[in-house]
Amino acid sequence: MRVATGSAHAKIILIGEHSVVHHQPAIAVPLLNVAVTATLSETTRGQRLISSYFTGSLVDLPGEFEGVRVLLQRLLRRFNALSLNFDLKIDSAIPEERGMGSSAAVATAVTRAVYAFFETALDPQLLLDTVNIEEVITHGSPSGIDAATVSSTQPVWLVKGSPLKHFPIHMNAFLVVGDTGVTGQTSMAVNSVSELLKDDEQPGVGQHLINHLGTLTTAAAKYLQHNQVRLLGQTLTAAQQDLTELGVNHPVLQHLINAANDAGALGAKLTGGGLGGCMFALTQTAEQAAKVANALEQHGAVATWIEPLAQQ
Ligand code: PMV
Repeated sequence: MRVATGSAHAKIILIGEHSVVHHQPAIAVPLLNVAVTATLSETTRGQRLISSYFTGSLVDLPGEFEGVRVLLQRLLRRFNALSLNFDLKIDSAIPEERGMGSSAAVATAVTRAVYAFFETALDPQLLLDTVNIEEVITHGSPSGIDAATVSSTQPVWLVKGSPLKHFPIHMNAFLVVGDTGVTGQTSMAVNSVSELLKDDEQPGVGQHLINHLGTLTTAAAKYLQHNQVRLLGQTLTAAQQDLTELGVNHPVLQHLINAANDAGALGAKLTGGGLGGCMFALTQTAEQAAKVANALEQHGAVATWIEPLAQQ
């Protein structure tokens, strides 16, 4: 009986969420230590069981797993294996709907496991296109930044519609990610930003914020490459202000951002769609990162992760 595994990891958007939907650049970094593994095993049981994530047969998957079910069907059809009996076990350390790329990471791990199972090489572009099948069902019209970053070991620079670029970072600093525990509302947030852009009563307001986020992202890229940590921190804080004015902040996010800044972070902002989900803070040293993580937990973060930027 054949068994194969595939894996992927979480991501956060460092800067450029929302503005990336409107053709400004964004920078995202992989969180290599927060991973998901998919294990596909051939069985003789005559049913398709997906464990860990949910249990039951493929046809009975609840609605929220529609993206994974359709993805699996497409993959098995690609290999003329629709009648294969299998167990699919998904072990994920990535919380769902928190802007950490959980759905794209599961789809990436599943796709990699299926290709490994059929001992077939998987071209990176085909991987992104395949993961997009699930992402479109789950998120509507994603920019593609999640799929790109959860399958990359390097940071990513993305301009929608342009070829993806890997973006090596040369900075000695740490990211501290804090989970509010509040479910993020990416598609609602994306729609409300689009409404603001069309709002005749506030002409130019939304577009000005989007353009300014683009300028901040370009500045952040320069600081990341020249190890200018303090300037990067200030830029992240400025981006948080723009995101607040765009209407995608949430009081619990702001509470954690304030706690991080009070604990000595060099800057902090929400990450991903907003209206809940995660925030992150920037610190110079590991000791400061631990202090900020502790402050976030004291102020209600349900989970925290520390990721060195230098090793990206
Ligand atoms: O919430 P996430 O991590 O899926 O990020 C959404 C990022 C947006 O820019 C708001 C939307 C997108 O598709 O890029």
